[in-house]
Amino acid sequence: MDRFTNKVVIVTGAASGIGKASALRIAAEGGTVACLDVQEKALHDAVKEINAHSATTGSASTYLCDIGNPQAITDAVAAVIKDHKKLNALCNIAGILKLQNTLEASLEDWNQIIAVNLTGTFLMCQTALPHLINTKGSIVNMGSTAALGGHAWTAAYAASKGGVLSMTKTFSIEFCKQGINANSLSPASVDTPMSSHPKLPEGADYDLLKKILPLHGLVRPASDVASLVAFLASEDAVHINGVDVRIDGGLMT
Ligand SMILES: NC(=O)c1ccc[n+]([C@@H]2O[C@H](COP(=O)([O-])OP(=O)(O)OC[C@H]3O[C@@H](n4cnc5c(N)ncnc54)[C@H](O)[C@@H]3O)[C@@H](O)[C@H]2O)c1
Repeated sequence: MDRFTNKVVIVTGAASGIGKASALRIAAEGGTVACLDVQEKALHDAVKEINAHSATTGSASTYLCDIGNPQAITDAVAAVIKDHKKLNALCNIAGILKLQNTLEASLEDWNQIIAVNLTGTFLMCQTALPHLINTKGSIVNMGSTAALGGHAWTAAYAASKGGVLSMTKTFSIEFCKQGINANSLSPASVDTPMSSHPKLPEGADYDLLKKILPLHGLVRPASDVASLVAFLASEDAVHINGVDVRIDGGLMT
């Protein structure tokens, strides 16, 4: 498949996990991928790996960007447009998770999780939308099953992802007449650095953990999620708009 030939795609969180796998998948389908992340060395390593990968027919490049910093977002999107002249899809994959006992969670942690996962995703969309309107492009935002069912210790994270799902539906309607489609995806447990060694709150109840991390084979590789990200960012999904796709093996059914 070569769905991304002559397409420019931004992927945030591209230094690791699902973002990196998505950037690779899109570059393997001919795309020009602008890889954004806050981890400088990991980002350079990821882009090097993507460009050297035997499947890559497109290309990847680095844009150091903390999506918790509005000016950094403005600068990164401007740099992508300066370098590549257009934008066909925006994949907001970057995110952070802290498992916290609600009674002990600090306001600082709450604000940080909301600032990155929700406000960062909003500002990426707001900044990129004028360029996406020019190409009748696509937005793909990262949700989580934490927004769809009760997951202990994730008040801020679940709230941030619930906000992402609602906001994505808003964009899908507000910009549909300009040719934009905006969708989200909600994975359950994916095998990435975020989920492989979750730091549990003190005294955490193992039975509650099993409700977040199904321990019997539902944990999927990031490449499974990347194939959905690529589909939603491609013209194959042009008539899919305002949808949240669960990728959870039926867990939330
Ligand atoms: N792993 C899972 O089980 C799972 C399940 C559901 C949803 N998700 C979501 O998928 C997305 C990717 O997670 P992952 O599992 O690949 O995690 P990961 O930790 O492997 O990757 C997240 C990436 O986001 C980047 N990032 C974090 N804060 C950033 C910031 N302020 N600015 C720019 N980049 C930033 C990190 O540097 C990292 O490269 C997240 O939004 C996460 O909430 C993950």
